[in-house]
Amino acid sequence: MMSVPSIQILPSLLAADFGRFADECRRAEAAGADALHLDVMDGHFVRNISFGPDVVRMARAACGLPLSVHLMIDRPDLYLRAFAEAGSTIILVHVEAPCDVRETLRDIRGHGIRAGLTLNPETPFEAAIPFLDLRLLDEVLFMSVHPGFGGQAFMPSVLPKIRALRDRDPAIGISVDGGIGDATAVQCAGAGANAFIAGTTLFRAPDMAAATARMRAAASAAFRGGGGPPA
Ligand code: DX5
Ligand code: ZN
Repeated sequence: MMSVPSIQILPSLLAADFGRFADECRRAEAAGADALHLDVMDGHFVRNISFGPDVVRMARAACGLPLSVHLMIDRPDLYLRAFAEAGSTIILVHVEAPCDVRETLRDIRGHGIRAGLTLNPETPFEAAIPFLDLRLLDEVLFMSVHPGFGGQAFMPSVLPKIRALRDRDPAIGISVDGGIGDATAVQCAGAGANAFIAGTTLFRAPDMAAATARMRAAASAAFRGGGGPPA
């Protein structure tokens, strides 16, 4: 039987209070998050600078959640070992990054962890096609804002891209990142996304557990699996 990807809610630590970083990781865990999302930015690939492997290591020490590490850096291939050793569960690299993407995905797997490929809003979903092989990657992440900053408005142009990929591949993980709240999570789930990355909506909610549960329920109800015949 073909496996259906599970619905996952991932708070993005970019919106956390960094003065209480370990507590924020544990707060997300207690709120029912499936994993934490960590945005690594180098000031070149995107116009912002965030943090590096030491902060991933802090998250690893603070809680037991899987860590989804999103590399928005020019040469992700040079830093895979550092992020793998810091405790990443999955490393996501951009298809637009100036490196050999196929080799980079292979290298991530070579470190014994999961691999993901990220597409910017203006990149067509076809850019992912050469890499769509579960031997090479576990997940495709569609950016629904221009990467670099939290708190931006969701771009609906991501929806047909999600739909096209889900039609093509019922088993692959499809995540979406940027401007995700309950309403936009529902739209993305309806198009076929199964993993929802949200910074502002979850970390700034008055009750993070309630917000996480609400997003999970809304996305689960709206989720549309692949269009292919049942296996
Ligand atoms: C943006 C990051 C996102 C960011 C999303 O470059 O990749 O993970 O934290 O933030 P919100 O949910 O506030 O749009
Ligand atoms: Zn991200």
